[in-house]
Amino acid sequence: MKIAMVGSGYVGLVSGACFADFGHTVVCIDKDQSKIDRLHDGIMPIYEPGLAELVESNVKAGRLSFTTSLAEGIKDANAIFIAVGTPSRRGDGHADLSFVHAVAREIGENLANDVVVVTKSTVPVGTGDEVERIIGESGSSHKVSVVSNPEFLREGAAIGDFKRPDRIVIGAEDEFGQETMREVYRPLFLNESPILFVNRRSSELIKYAANAFLATKITFINEMADLCEKVGADVQDVSRGIGLDGRIGKKFLHAGPGYGGSCFPKDTLALLKTSEDYDSPTRIVEAVVKANDTRKRSMGRKVLDAIGGAEGARGKKVALLGLTFKPNTDDMRDSPAIAVAQTLTDAGVEVAAYDPEGMELAKPLMPNVTMCEGSYEAIEGADAVAIVTEWDAFRALDLERVKQIAKAPVLVDLRNIYRPEDVRNRGFTYVSVGRP
Ligand code: UDX
Repeated sequence: MKIAMVGSGYVGLVSGACFADFGHTVVCIDKDQSKIDRLHDGIMPIYEPGLAELVESNVKAGRLSFTTSLAEGIKDANAIFIAVGTPSRRGDGHADLSFVHAVAREIGENLANDVVVVTKSTVPVGTGDEVERIIGESGSSHKVSVVSNPEFLREGAAIGDFKRPDRIVIGAEDEFGQETMREVYRPLFLNESPILFVNRRSSELIKYAANAFLATKITFINEMADLCEKVGADVQDVSRGIGLDGRIGKKFLHAGPGYGGSCFPKDTLALLKTSEDYDSPTRIVEAVVKANDTRKRSMGRKVLDAIGGAEGARGKKVALLGLTFKPNTDDMRDSPAIAVAQTLTDAGVEVAAYDPEGMELAKPLMPNVTMCEGSYEAIEGADAVAIVTEWDAFRALDLERVKQIAKAPVLVDLRNIYRPEDVRNRGFTYVSVGRP
């Protein structure tokens, strides 16, 4: 099959490289000339484990190529995927569909054969209808079927998620769309990954419902963690105790500083907008969004409390370890670390930070934070060390060294990666999330 992938960002590039690896011929298209030039040179625009190798081997095999020309890239394609961004629109939280619409228009103007157009970008319910209408305006006589096929990739584990998905969701309205998608994903049928054929609107909603549900699970356990601290319970035990019930499930019950990233914050807001538009309230999602926003700041106050509270903290120093919204990515979007750092600097605290991959993108978001070359440089002279993101590098800190170079042995572990007794036995004041 020949596949065109419009948009070579996170989703487009990972999906394109994986489809090529399945044996399809894939052209990744992007308007950004410098991005395409760098891809030609084997330089990835994002940090994702395994991606550079996957791209390199498929380019070598002649199955994967890059271009800035949509007209050229979609020529003879059996399926054209739209994988451009759908950021939150400034001011109102609706998903901004201007990029999707622009691509649909360009596809319509350049159609040269019958084709299936697939929205891979996360798009609100009804976008498929709109894409169909826009392509139809070109007046082309070629047959076009518009299909929804949301992605469920986690950053840092995207390639594995793509190749071994829990499920594939396809929202197709006709036989042509269904059959083409069956061919596109044939290698995964052989792996027996469940594939769900639904109507296009259901498919679009599945993506938002999945992300909102996961965000709810995280927020639920975060609130339980707060309650645990008050009543003297341990959230790790509570999480295990409820998670073993198969109806609840063990995953996504890890308490922490709140969810961030490119999907949950944006998608929960967009879902709220859709429910507002259709006058069908989603009160639970509304509460989740509020609770998560509040939480990020309250985690900053937790760190402040460990160094003497808002009053006593002025002039003190905190080492922030981990800035990205989660490990194994350089993504800083809506990372809790931003709010934590802000709360600290607002209180007159000096903040020194280190992250294995996120420093470049973090700098402009945290202008008052000193960026360091490594963990121990940040810890030098600090009144407390706060772990915000659970990178492996922070799981094995040399606590003796920390004690020697820090001003005070205080560890605030917002990801619960240490065992309280291990740290306390070494003479530290240890604060974590939802544990006595
Ligand atoms: C998510 C979805 O998992 C994916 O299916 C979707 O396509 C895109 O959004 P991603 O944003 O890469 O993927 O991150 P994920 O690993 O899901 O984590 C999201 C946030 O939740 C992170 O900030 C993480 O730290 C937090 N989280 C996750 C918790 O605080 N506790 C948990 O138990 C799980």
